[in-house]
Amino acid sequence: MAKYSVLLLLLCLVSAEAAGTEDGSESWGYVEVRPKAHMFWWLYRSPNRTDKGSTPWPTVLWLQGGPGASGVGLGNFQEIGPLDVYLHPRNSTWLQKANLLFVDNPVGTGYSYVEDETLFVKSDVEAANDLTTLLKNLYNSDERLQKSPLTIVAESYGGKFAVTTGLAIANAIKAGELKLQFSGVALGDSWISPEDFVLAWGPLLKDVSRLDSNGAEQSNSLAEKIKQEIAEGQYTYATSTWSELENLISMSSNNVDFYNFMLDSDMDPLATTVLGLSQQAVSLNKKYSLYLNSKADSDGDIDSLMNGEIKMKLKIIPANVSWGGQSGEVFQALDGDFMKPRISEVDQLLDLGFNVTVYNGQVDLICATKGTEAWVQKLKWEGLKDFNKLKRTALHCGSKETKAFVKSHRNFRFYWILGAGHFVPVDQPCISLQMIADITQSPATTATA
Ligand SMILES: *[C@@H]1O[C@H](CO)[C@@H](O)[C@H](O)[C@H]1NC(C)=O
Ligand SMILES: *[C@@H]1O[C@H](CO)[C@@H](O)[C@H](O)[C@H]1NC(C)=O
Ligand SMILES: *[C@@H]1O[C@H](CO)[C@@H](O)[C@H](O)[C@H]1NC(C)=O
Ligand SMILES: *[C@@H]1O[C@H](CO)[C@@H](O)[C@H](O)[C@H]1NC(C)=O
Repeated sequence: MAKYSVLLLLLCLVSAEAAGTEDGSESWGYVEVRPKAHMFWWLYRSPNRTDKGSTPWPTVLWLQGGPGASGVGLGNFQEIGPLDVYLHPRNSTWLQKANLLFVDNPVGTGYSYVEDETLFVKSDVEAANDLTTLLKNLYNSDERLQKSPLTIVAESYGGKFAVTTGLAIANAIKAGELKLQFSGVALGDSWISPEDFVLAWGPLLKDVSRLDSNGAEQSNSLAEKIKQEIAEGQYTYATSTWSELENLISMSSNNVDFYNFMLDSDMDPLATTVLGLSQQAVSLNKKYSLYLNSKADSDGDIDSLMNGEIKMKLKIIPANVSWGGQSGEVFQALDGDFMKPRISEVDQLLDLGFNVTVYNGQVDLICATKGTEAWVQKLKWEGLKDFNKLKRTALHCGSKETKAFVKSHRNFRFYWILGAGHFVPVDQPCISLQMIADITQSPATTATA
């Protein structure tokens, strides 16, 4: 009883500020997840939701990578949200299939901010605890959200946050601290096992003619060094060797694009010269948005959009907080965790009975399918043997062309998305939309293809 009232007191002390559109279709706000650490969220309720009791309308929580890249900005306006960077409707928006919750995670990302530099998270687990605090604040007072099953969908580094957050959510639900129906996670081109990705780069690039055997050999030797450093728990060293390896590959491949090995990187070669991690992170974020912008016809600049029109619309962003202003520090604070694998967290989620989906773009390099398949084979999950024996199913979207393969066994599913790089929903919007409807069991089954 005493414990309970302390808990209630703590919940009341978490300060929060929220706002939204008049019709209730959008709401957003800040939750102070720790004193002076403010996390921003933005929820869109789908206009297409149907509320049949037996098939509840789902919610997707989107987690961007980086670490330090903004889901509220990039995921929302450049990948899956209702509007694009020109504020035109996106016909492939995932909002047709689910409510969308974007969170600038971890603190310091996007519109989220800390008032004291010591408050950035230093591990995926600390990030998961902050995000769970935010979800308690959002869900415990909202019965409509409680009825809508939640799937966390992650891209890139977001995958590490997704699995640690999944476990933190499961614990909070079990402890009676969080009222939420948790379905599971979908890991899109996710950095779950850095070692397996760096070991994949040399052989893959050699096979597709982007490295010669000398380049591949040098790449493999640095990858082995990283493997050793990870085995010894020297994660910070492993992070700098990873930077070294990225530089080596850029130079030996005449600047292959890490997000799509069929392309050249659009970047000034200087941007890949790593002077420090903080620069690395800034260039990573810049690369993210440059790459995504290059898909558009004209020059919708995400930075001016988020610090201009959108900041004005939201009203509650403090004047001295600029979108993306602290992202370099977010990356730097995590440099001791960046190379740590999270395979065992995937195993724990599978054992707890949550759904785990992995999807990967065929021509991604940074989180190459070859590396993803390697870490999947390291799962201790007892269904793995049977999963390996199953045949894949080919998927189509609107035409006869093969767009993807899928294989599913019990609570694990793997999608191979053809013709997509790192940013799957951008490169293959049609099949991605179909996939998200399947994963979330959306009642909006009307084919959009
Ligand atoms: C979803 O709702 C919007 C707004 O009412 C509508 O324009 C759109 O056609 C709907 N989409 C689907 C797939 O039903
Ligand atoms: C969405 O728009 C693009 C181009 O604007 C078009 O090629 C595509 O067929 C549209 N998709 C759907 C599902 O309407
Ligand atoms: C913004 O200004 C307020 C008030 O001066 C200060 O408390 C806060 O730390 C500042 N925030 C940032 C991110 O600089
Ligand atoms: C996992 O997905 C299946 C459908 O593939 C669904 O029946 C089940 O309820 C989901 N599990 C959870 C925990 O949501």
